[in-house]
Amino acid sequence: MAQIPLKKGSKEEILKEMRLARDKDVKWEKGRAFGLIYHINEEIDSLLQDAFTMFFSENGLNPTAFPSLRKFETEVVAMSATLLHGDENVAGNMTSGGTESILCAVKTARDWARDHLPKATEPEILLPRSGHPAFEKAAHYFGLKAVFIPVRDDLRADVEAMRAAVNENTIMMVGSAPAYPHGVVDPIRELAEIAQENEILFHTDSCVGGFMLPFVKKLGYPVPDFDFNIPGVTSMSADLHKFAYAAKGASVVLYRTPELRRYQMFVSIDWSGGIYPSPTIAGTRPAGPIAAAWAILNYLGEEGYLEITDTVMKAVKKMQAGVNAIEGVKVLSDPEMSVFAIASDDSSIDIYEVADELHKYGWHLDRQHFPMCLHVTANYIHAEVADEFIADLAKSVAEVRRPSIRKSASKWLIAITDFLFRILPENWVTWIMEKFSALLGGGGLPERMAPMYGLIGTLPNRGDLKELVLDLLDGLTKEE
Ligand SMILES: Cc1ncc(COP(=O)(O)O)c(C=O)c1O
Repeated sequence: MAQIPLKKGSKEEILKEMRLARDKDVKWEKGRAFGLIYHINEEIDSLLQDAFTMFFSENGLNPTAFPSLRKFETEVVAMSATLLHGDENVAGNMTSGGTESILCAVKTARDWARDHLPKATEPEILLPRSGHPAFEKAAHYFGLKAVFIPVRDDLRADVEAMRAAVNENTIMMVGSAPAYPHGVVDPIRELAEIAQENEILFHTDSCVGGFMLPFVKKLGYPVPDFDFNIPGVTSMSADLHKFAYAAKGASVVLYRTPELRRYQMFVSIDWSGGIYPSPTIAGTRPAGPIAAAWAILNYLGEEGYLEITDTVMKAVKKMQAGVNAIEGVKVLSDPEMSVFAIASDDSSIDIYEVADELHKYGWHLDRQHFPMCLHVTANYIHAEVADEFIADLAKSVAEVRRPSIRKSASKWLIAITDFLFRILPENWVTWIMEKFSALLGGGGLPERMAPMYGLIGTLPNRGDLKELVLDLLDGLTKEE
C-alpha cells in the first residue's frame, strides 16, 4: 500500500510521472470525450489558468477577508441572473458545480416547506425520469422522497402525469432545460404553472443549458421559455463550468427572492470557534473557479458567446444530419441545443456494440438506457471533429452489422444468463453476482462493454445492480 515517501522528491520527476499517468486518459483535446470537458482553445485556457492561479491560495469561505472574491461572486451571480431574465430581487451563490447547486436548491425547498407547507409531513419532490440524479442524491441526503414520472414519447416531461402526481406532500417540482440524457427541454411554462397553482416551489435545472440556450435563442433557433420570465419558476441552477466554458468547480444557484435563498444558508452561533456562517454546502471554497468564471464571462462577453454558440450549433446540425443519414441509427427526439442521443432503429444493431466499436477509434460515449442510446454533449471542441465522428460512426455501424462469432457468443451468453436468473434459487443468483463483482472490482471495466450491459439488463432486480455498481465504486478506489 502506498505511503507518503520518506524522502523529498524532485519537481521534474514528479511532474514527469504525472504526465505519463495522463497519457492513458481519454484524448479530450481531440474532441474524444462528450460531457466531461468543455474547451475552446489554448488562448482561452491561458486566460482561465492565469485567473485561476492568481487566486490559487485565496479562500471563498470568508469574503470579508477577500473583497476581490466577493466582487467576483456577486458580479457572476448578477450576470447569470440577468441572462436568465431575473430581476434585481434574484439572489444566489456560486457553488462547486451542478450537484452542489441542486443540493442547495433541494435543501432550501425542504426548509421552506417546513415553514409554509405544514401538511407536507412526508415531503416529496416531483420530477421527470430524465431529471438529473443530483436531485435523487439531494432527496437521499435531506430525507425527502424523489418521485419520478415517466417522460412522454418525445422524451420531455409529461405535464398531465406530473399534474396528477402532485399531492399535499409535494413541496417542489423540477424541470430540465435541457435534460442531460437526450438534450430536450421540458415544457417548463406548463410545469411551473402547476407548481404555482399548488403554491409549491419550482426549480429549473439549467445546469447544462443556462449559459447556452439564451444564445441559441438569440441566434434564431427555436427555444421555449425556461427561466425567470416564467412566474412560477422559483429557483434555477446553471453551470459555468459547462457552456460558459469556465474552469471546473463553478456553478450558480439562483432564487427568485432573497427570502427564499435565506433557507439555503446555515449559521452556527454557539461554536467555540466563533460565529460560523456558511451560505452553501462547502466550507472552504477554492477561489480559483470563482476568479476564472468572472474572467471568462468578461472576456468573451455576449459577442464571444454568440460566436461560439453559432459555431457549435452549425457543427451539431451537421452531426445530427450525419447520424440520421446512416441507416440503422438516428437522433432521438428534436433536441434544442447541442446535447443529443443516438439510438438504433434496427433490431440487428446493438447500439452498445456501436459504442464499443467507436471506442476503438478513441471516442468515449456514455451508454444510456430506457431507451438504449449513446450520449453526445457537443461543445466548441467538437466543431472540428464533426466529420471525423460521422465517418467513424458509419464504419462502426457497418462493423456491428457484420455477423461475427464473438457477437453470437455474447448474445448466447446473455440469453443463457437471463434464463438461469429466472430459474435458479436466489442464493445461486447472489453467488453469480458476487463472482461478477469480483471480476469487475479486480480488473476494472472491460474493453468491450456491450456484453456487460447486456448481462446487467437481464438482472432480476435493480437491488442486485446497485450492489454491483457499489462494488465497482469500491474497486475504483483500490490501488491498481
Ligand atoms: C441537467 C444537469 N443537471 C445537473 C448536473 C450535475 O452537474 P455537475 O456534474 O457539475 O455536478 C448535470 C451534469 O451533467 C446535468 O447535465
